[in-house]
Amino acid sequence: MKKDLICIKYLSLGEINEILKLSAELKEYPGRFSRTLSAKSLALIFEKPSNRTYVSFQVGMYELGGNSIYLGPEHIKLGVRETVKDVARTLSRYVHGIVLRTFAQETVLEMAKYASVPVINGLSDLVHPCQALADILTVREKFSGFKNITLAYIGDGNNVCHSLLYICAKVGLNLNIATPSKYAPDSNIVRESLLLAKESGAKICLFHDPKKAVCAANVLYTDVWASMGQEKEASLRSRTFRAFQINSNLLKAAKKGALIMHCLPAHRGQEITHEVIESRNSVVFEQAENRMHVQKAILIKLLK
Ligand code: CP
Ligand code: NVA
Repeated sequence: MKKDLICIKYLSLGEINEILKLSAELKEYPGRFSRTLSAKSLALIFEKPSNRTYVSFQVGMYELGGNSIYLGPEHIKLGVRETVKDVARTLSRYVHGIVLRTFAQETVLEMAKYASVPVINGLSDLVHPCQALADILTVREKFSGFKNITLAYIGDGNNVCHSLLYICAKVGLNLNIATPSKYAPDSNIVRESLLLAKESGAKICLFHDPKKAVCAANVLYTDVWASMGQEKEASLRSRTFRAFQINSNLLKAAKKGALIMHCLPAHRGQEITHEVIESRNSVVFEQAENRMHVQKAILIKLLK
């Protein structure tokens, strides 16, 4: 049966560990995998802009010996020119996998339901599973594991935050989240993550005070205040999130030498200052690089 990557919640801990292990191998010995996906093709349907996700999937597929085809908003016009169901069934006859970046999580679920090939969620409004896998690969590289490590996520309780919730809960990485009260993460996702955390031992805590959340944190993580599709709310959000900026003052409240992570793109002067993102503590470009290694591991696991 085909396997999709729709949300971290559907991955077992064993599957997450296998992806991390393979990612590390791909990072160390990329040449060993140069024909692993030869004669395979991947469709990249992007309804939103992208740098990291798009380029790392495209180059990753090429480096594995396969081929990919970019289908931007003007190509397929999901649900306008053609239904998701028809696109899924047509593409399944041409390609061996589909990456979909879209708005509603339901669109990803529908694509996966009707495609006979694996569907990978390249970001929806709800979750960003490929990002979370690269994030914890980065944490694991830096701390050689997750035990007694605390990541503090500061900002919007959005797609990136939701995937971090699931993955931290599964692997046993402690997670503190600080958001303005109106922008807390989805309560169902929080509830599910708290249940998962009972098994792994991860401590998950929600705050509305960033200083409390970063206290004793080994990693500080943030994301944009207005996600793709929320551009009209940007100025209101800028005002609401002002106290949730990762700056040198907030960094002082964290553990000495705490790492800085950001999924990127970053808005310097908003969710993070130039000084902090460019500081020695920042691992944002190693994190971005890991997207590529993880993406390749996902492709091998699902398409081979
Ligand atoms: N972090 C991330 O997904 O970046 P892109 O939006 O550039 O793909
Ligand atoms: N939360 C951001 C993540 C970008 C990678 C967005 O959805 O735009």
